[in-house]
Amino acid sequence: MAINIQYLIQAKQQGRSLIALTAWDYAIAQVLDGAEVDIILVGDSLAMVALGHKTTLPITLDEMIHHGAAVCRGVKRALVVCDLPFLSYQESISQAIHSAGRVLKETGVQAVKLEGGHPAVIETVQQLTAIGIPVMGHVGLTPQSVHSLGYRQQGQTDQDAHRITSEAIALQEAGAFSLVLEHLPANLAAQITAKLSIPTIGIGAGPHCDGQVLVTTDLLGLSAKQPPFAKSYLNLRQMITEAVQEFSHDVKNGQFP
Ligand code: KIV
Repeated sequence: MAINIQYLIQAKQQGRSLIALTAWDYAIAQVLDGAEVDIILVGDSLAMVALGHKTTLPITLDEMIHHGAAVCRGVKRALVVCDLPFLSYQESISQAIHSAGRVLKETGVQAVKLEGGHPAVIETVQQLTAIGIPVMGHVGLTPQSVHSLGYRQQGQTDQDAHRITSEAIALQEAGAFSLVLEHLPANLAAQITAKLSIPTIGIGAGPHCDGQVLVTTDLLGLSAKQPPFAKSYLNLRQMITEAVQEFSHDVKNGQFP
């Protein structure tokens, strides 16, 4: 069964945890889909983990579309969501509609994700959802704002916690079908999750969200550097190094081919 938005809402109502992971190419997307991941996110973190940029800011809409289309070619079951990159939606609502429309038309993903919860973003989410473009929100640590927020945990003061909670509620009211909660205190993420009828997907936000997402290179142990809240289930960097060394040894010693 292909995952749709209704499935995600029902999962929250029934207390079933949602599983989300990032992907940026066909092969990994196929593997994640085969492993029955519910949501595959073509996250703009690919700017850093796949393209070697220092932040997510440099990636372009065309690059996101290129990777989003590759991911969709590998997916049959999961709901695929693609990030709108920095400055592809903040200038105006018509820019956001144009960017989100291109992403849906040119990749095959079912939804877009955008960051933040200030009033201009809320209005953008309202307009996108009104014309039938599903939107996932993202509050807390929002990496596109790294130069103003850094990568530190958000929501530590009462004032900040209150602002993030209000943003989450406003995003739901604007029509977002789900929210990523990134790097928040676990109790704040739990409170937001309890207040919302749409599912929250946590990353570094404790165990009480409706689902969890990781950047797949972190899960696989392939990232050169990863945030403290990530967990590696494999040391792929080491495994690849050993395989390459074995290949090199075999070639040098006439054992392959
Ligand atoms: O870009 C990304 O990978 C993300 C996840 C960290 C949620 O937004």
